Amino acid sequence: MMRMPFSGVMRRGLFALALCGPLAVSASDVPYVPTPMNVVDAILELGGVGPGDFLVDLGSGDGRISIRAAKQFGTRGFGVEIEHHLVQMARDDARRQGVADKVTFDARDLFGTDLGRATVITAYLLPALNLRLRPQLFEQLRPGSRILTHDFDFGDWQPDRKVTIAVPDKPYGAPRSDIMLWVVPADFSGVWQWTVPGADGEVRYESRIEQRFQIPELVLTTQGLRLAVNEARISGNTLSFVINGPAGPQRYSGELSGNRISGQAVRGNGQGVTWQATRIKTGKMDIGTGGATPVAVGN
Ligand SMILES: C[S@@+](CC[C@H](N)C(=O)[O-])C[C@H]1O[C@@H](n2cnc3c(N)ncnc32)[C@H](O)[C@@H]1O
Repeated sequence: MMRMPFSGVMRRGLFALALCGPLAVSASDVPYVPTPMNVVDAILELGGVGPGDFLVDLGSGDGRISIRAAKQFGTRGFGVEIEHHLVQMARDDARRQGVADKVTFDARDLFGTDLGRATVITAYLLPALNLRLRPQLFEQLRPGSRILTHDFDFGDWQPDRKVTIAVPDKPYGAPRSDIMLWVVPADFSGVWQWTVPGADGEVRYESRIEQRFQIPELVLTTQGLRLAVNEARISGNTLSFVINGPAGPQRYSGELSGNRISGQAVRGNGQGVTWQATRIKTGKMDIGTGGATPVAVGN
C-alpha cells in the first residue's frame, strides 16, 4: 500500500480546514480557497503563458487566474466552476476588468468538460481529483500543452518543474506555496530504426522505446551490440538522448510527427548530421491507472 507523507496528509487536512474561512463557500469535493495573487503571477510565469495561449482553469473560483492572464497578456480561455455564485463573481469581474471578450466562465463539472482547445491548464484541486483528472488530460490535451497546479500534484506523474514561493498570508499550512509544471508528452513508444553516416559508411540503429509519462527508456542496438543511452528525455513532441558509442558521445534531438522523428545527431566535436527515424512497431505510453490512490494516514 502506498503511504502518503505525513506533510501531505497535514496539508490536505489544513486545506480542508480552510473551509472554515469567510471565503469558503464551496459545496463541492474541494473547498474554495483562492490562489493569492503573487502565486497567480508565479503560475503564469512558470507556464510561460502568453497572448497565443488558450488557458483553461479547472475549478476557476472567482476567475482570478484567467482574468489576470487576459489582462496581463491578452490570453484567451475559459474557467469551469461547479459553484454558480462563483461563476457569477468571475463573470462580473471579467466585465469590470474589460476582458469579458477574452475569458468566459461556465457553471459546470470539470469532469467531462472538453479541454481540447487548451494550450495551458491550471488547477488548484485536491490530489484525489487530480488523479481522477489525469486520464482526461492525456486523452484530450495535445502534446506540448502545459499543466500548472498549485500545491497538489498528480501522484506518480512527476512534474517537469517545481518552484516554491513565499506566501506570508497563506490561509492553511506553512507560509509558502508549491507550483508545479507538467508538459504533456507525445507518445514515442515502440520500435524505431534509423541510419546515420559513420567513418566506414552508413551505421544502422534500432531502438525499443518504453515510455512512462514523459520518461523514455531506450534499449538501443547497432551491429548486434547494445549501446548505453543517457540523458533520455521527452518534452512535448521533442525527444532527446545521448548515445555513448565507440566513436564517443552522439547527442540526438528530434521532433515526432506520426511514425517519424526528424532532427539532428551531433557528435562530441560539434559535427552534426540530419537524423530521421521510422517507427516499425507501435507501443503504448504507460500513464498509470489514475483513480484514487490508497492512502495510509500517520506513521
Ligand atoms: C481551491 S479552489 C481554486 C479556485 C481558483 N482556481 C483559484 O486558484 O483561485 C477550487 C475550486 O474548484 C471548484 N471545484 C471543485 N470540484 C469541481 C468540479 N468537479 N467541477 C468544477 N469545479 C470544481 C470548487 O468549487 C472551488 O471553487
